[in-house]
Amino acid sequence: MKILAIYPWTHISSSALMVNGKLVAASAEERFTRVKWTTKFPIQSANWCLKQGNVDWKEIDRIVVPWNPSININSASNRWDSNISWRGEMLSNIPSNVLKALNSEPSKKMTLSFDKTKIVYLNHHECHAASAIFISPFKKCDFLTIDGHGEKQTCVSGFYDGKKIVTTNSINYPHSVGLLYGTFTDFLGFTPDNDEWKTMALASFSKSKNKFDKKMKYIYKLTKDGFELDLSFFDYYLFDKQKSFYNQKLINLFGLPRKRNTVLKKEHYEIAGALQRSFTEIVFHLLDIAKKKGGRSNKIVVAGGAAMNCVFNGLLDKNKIYDQNFVPPWPDDLGVSIGATYLENNNLNKRSSKDVQVYLGPSYGNKEILSLLNKYKLKFKKPKKISSYVAKKISDGFLIGWFQDKMEFTHRALGNRSILADPRKFEMQKKVNSAVKYRESFRPFAPATIEEKASEIFDISKKTKIPFMEKAVLVKKNWRKKIPAVVHVDGTARVQTINKDFNKKFYNLINEFYKITNVPVLLNTSFNLNGEPIVMSPSDAIRTFHTCGLDILVLQDYVVEK
Ligand SMILES: [Fe+2]
Repeated sequence: MKILAIYPWTHISSSALMVNGKLVAASAEERFTRVKWTTKFPIQSANWCLKQGNVDWKEIDRIVVPWNPSININSASNRWDSNISWRGEMLSNIPSNVLKALNSEPSKKMTLSFDKTKIVYLNHHECHAASAIFISPFKKCDFLTIDGHGEKQTCVSGFYDGKKIVTTNSINYPHSVGLLYGTFTDFLGFTPDNDEWKTMALASFSKSKNKFDKKMKYIYKLTKDGFELDLSFFDYYLFDKQKSFYNQKLINLFGLPRKRNTVLKKEHYEIAGALQRSFTEIVFHLLDIAKKKGGRSNKIVVAGGAAMNCVFNGLLDKNKIYDQNFVPPWPDDLGVSIGATYLENNNLNKRSSKDVQVYLGPSYGNKEILSLLNKYKLKFKKPKKISSYVAKKISDGFLIGWFQDKMEFTHRALGNRSILADPRKFEMQKKVNSAVKYRESFRPFAPATIEEKASEIFDISKKTKIPFMEKAVLVKKNWRKKIPAVVHVDGTARVQTINKDFNKKFYNLINEFYKITNVPVLLNTSFNLNGEPIVMSPSDAIRTFHTCGLDILVLQDYVVEK
């Protein structure tokens, strides 16, 4: 069974290929087009995925799309499908009009066939849930998805009983905790649906409750089935008719919004802090409901765009609602293409492999890299032991571009397309920022450590694994001064814990750095310039290396130094 997922025209386009229950390849389209967050039809990544699986377009059994447009048909404006501007639109407008004429409940999934090709449109939140359930370590579990919005739903919970996904609770648009967060991201002068992590980083500067915590209570309330927003404060549901997510009533309550690129003031940190506390309250309430209505499991998976909130995710381990939790490496819309392949495979009663890697993108061998280095006439060396050579250079204060094996299918660099630096000096933050990242000073850098040392440095149990940088946790007090470049203002860090099976080369590198410095931690940030996608190919890496302040580029076993 060959299932190709494609997901264009929303936040970020991506493709994924599953063959006989095994995820073969997946990538965001932006890595190929080099346009960050591109939403275009993912033809390059789809073609690449098919090539990886040795599959031709004609051999695909199912093309799956993680969005079911039939759910939106009845609410669609008439101007959408009452006329056509060219006859090709019959492809979409005839099913649209038939669905309207049927006037029945939208089908759970919609299928379109021509010749041998079958396109299946799946429910968006089920794809989010599947992107976590089927790669989690759990055989059965409850799930919670929290998003800006799907076709209609914004939050869904339910359970997976080992055979099927069952929804037991959902909250419908426009009541959305994701868009509540987006509204204040907009209010604080950032881009909603994009910069929510900046808002989250600001929130860490506001530890205790302030006057804005009380004001938050005017705009939402918890209910038996979840929460409701007071929509009179918001404009996001008016789509293109209004210029911002909030309106004058919200300004009357919270004061003037921050203009873009202006100085951040105390009240901006306080608003972000109050928002994060409200977000936490709402999501824990949703977890309570998920548990009450769930499948009597003590395990939960959490996905959806709002599960990118690693500060909240870090609280999951301490909560008493569920004994175990799992957040996938791709909780946001990047991951729904992967989720769609698993969901359709499960719908067809096929089993899928749990052996899932995050490294699902293109890789380039030493031979290919060597010929490229020669072509570009670059001076290079090939050290005997790359890990100890590079570890020494990092300990000497050099900034490294680290390019190894298959590219991550994640927004976060997890050790194969990373910029690495020494975390022991606070100034290293500044150095990385001025040399490469040019990002806001309030945004922290993340540490990567080896799994067996993690609980000595971070406030986590010996058993805890955080392989995807999905959780922010406290750095133990005696370690904060030892690794100041990766500790956020509130004493937390968005750590990645690595074992040899997960990424042997990255593990060895950190271990070598540990041998030299007695500190088993590296500063790890994604290998890209601000505003560009993470590098995919050696050419991308070389171009980036030569247009920023990186000192050393490591391409597989080869080293280029400035
Ligand atoms: Fe989504």
